[in-house]
Amino acid sequence: MLCKIPELFAQDEELEYLKEKAPTLKSWHLTVRQACDLDLLLNGAFHPLTGFLNKDEYNSVCENMCLTSGELWPIPINLDVSENFSQIVKPGEEIALRDQEGVILAILTVEDIWSPDKPFEAENVFGSNDAEHPGVSYLKQKAGPVYVGGSVIGVNKPTFYDFKTLRDTPNELRKKFNEVGWSRIVAFQTRNPLHRAHYELTHRASEEFQANLLIHPVVGMTKPGDIDHFTRVRCYEAILHQYPRSSTCLSLLNLAMRMAGPREAILHGLIRANYGCTHFIIGRDHAGPGLNSDNKPFYEPYKAQEIFERYQDKININLIKFKNFVYVEDKAQFEAINEVPSGAKTLEISGTELRRRLNNDLPIPEWFSFPDVIRELRRSRPPRNQQGFTVFFTGLSGSGKSTIANALLNMLLEIGDRPVTLLDGDIVRKRLSSELGFSKEHRDLNIRRIGYVAMEIVKNGGIAICAPIAPYEQTRKAVREEIQSFGSFVEVYLSTTLEVCERRDRKGLYKLARLGKIKEFTGISDPYEVPQSPELEIDSENSSVEHCASEIMLKLRSLGLLGARV
Ligand code: ADX
Repeated sequence: MLCKIPELFAQDEELEYLKEKAPTLKSWHLTVRQACDLDLLLNGAFHPLTGFLNKDEYNSVCENMCLTSGELWPIPINLDVSENFSQIVKPGEEIALRDQEGVILAILTVEDIWSPDKPFEAENVFGSNDAEHPGVSYLKQKAGPVYVGGSVIGVNKPTFYDFKTLRDTPNELRKKFNEVGWSRIVAFQTRNPLHRAHYELTHRASEEFQANLLIHPVVGMTKPGDIDHFTRVRCYEAILHQYPRSSTCLSLLNLAMRMAGPREAILHGLIRANYGCTHFIIGRDHAGPGLNSDNKPFYEPYKAQEIFERYQDKININLIKFKNFVYVEDKAQFEAINEVPSGAKTLEISGTELRRRLNNDLPIPEWFSFPDVIRELRRSRPPRNQQGFTVFFTGLSGSGKSTIANALLNMLLEIGDRPVTLLDGDIVRKRLSSELGFSKEHRDLNIRRIGYVAMEIVKNGGIAICAPIAPYEQTRKAVREEIQSFGSFVEVYLSTTLEVCERRDRKGLYKLARLGKIKEFTGISDPYEVPQSPELEIDSENSSVEHCASEIMLKLRSLGLLGARV
């Protein structure tokens, strides 16, 4: 019998009424993550949630991993907003939730508004306050300072233009399963392309448990730096024929992952139960965020399995657990690490190693992955010397940024293998940021705009040279992170001292700053935070412009960003 999951969409007359009313309400434009969360709230993947958590639910989820009703829920799903927005709405009010294009997706009835204790949330949900954790970093750097709780009701379904036929709501997938008569279904969660280890896991799970297989990759948000979902889905499609056709299904999940390891594994299980699956695979380091700032893993590799088992009776899905799968050379097959015969030689290629081989155009063995998958990966990730990158200068006014950047621009143009753009500080201030001043807020906005343009250039395979003062470490870091998803970020710190810069005073600005005629002048009346780990540090005091620029060229070459023969 087909059992349906409750969705949160308005129907019939109520829908007509809400569609009339929605444009008159105050609006909140959803972030990418919130849009994913809302999608899963509305379509029932987050059932039993009925909206963004209110304060009591939030505290209960953070502290006890359950809703106030006692139902298991591991990760807070919140609507984080700006200080300004929080001041113009009040409890009881309805607000329109719009996507980035302005389409009204849902109406939220505000229940409460509060400023969360973020370190408390990080410690409880992620077990850490370390900003190396992508979930912690998002919480601290990207999430707004105020949360708005309340139930939501959908008025328009979100639209997707990519891989439309592969996206299913829980009820759509349940219906499909019902139509083909599937009752035992094992779900496989992934945020990576499927390589042979994944293939083995999924194959074995479905054979051993005599279950049909749902390959259910996340295409919402994953760990920063992961392979983009367009490439991954092409990879999944490329190897689907390796699986038995009648018992395998590929469907995409628009989840925004938090990389919360054990707690996230529980969320993954609850979601797959809503999708009608009966079994769920958890291997090693499920939804793991990588290493912390002490170079240690955030979570034990099998912690997710342990916690899942502890709460198993509250999750309506059976756990299938696997130990780390490694390739056993003598047997020419994958085995769980605890089943490898003693003394047998095992092989593994980590994500970092795979990226290195792709970056440097090195061979990737067939035991590790399928040639079709590797072909797709190579197509979307050319070797490093053909990728875009950013050279980001930072330093005091007069430290030599513009001059050296200009020399570098010409040296790169002389090579001529990729388009090059110089985003000089003064020019950007005229062309992109003419309305901005020099407060911290405006300076940050200016740098973020430069970062955005550079990211677009890098994304499309070009070289961006940025030469602003960029005095704040946090902002430089944010720009670095954004750009690094698409190519390298080379920070060049011009450490020319204030004394030298002031002595040069080519634009006469230091003189005016000392006289108090220019306010908020970096180094004189405004701070400059020295970069903590730039790729290159240059003091231009006793070096020619040519020397400084050629130092940078050498650095670019050593990073593999310039071809061997150019
Ligand atoms: S995750 O963030 O979605 O968990 P990934 O896509 O790497 O990351 O993993 C998907 C699932 O496969 C997880 O349950 C993970 O534990 C499991 N897995 C991946 N590689 C292996 C492996 N070599 N051995 C055992 N389990 C693995």
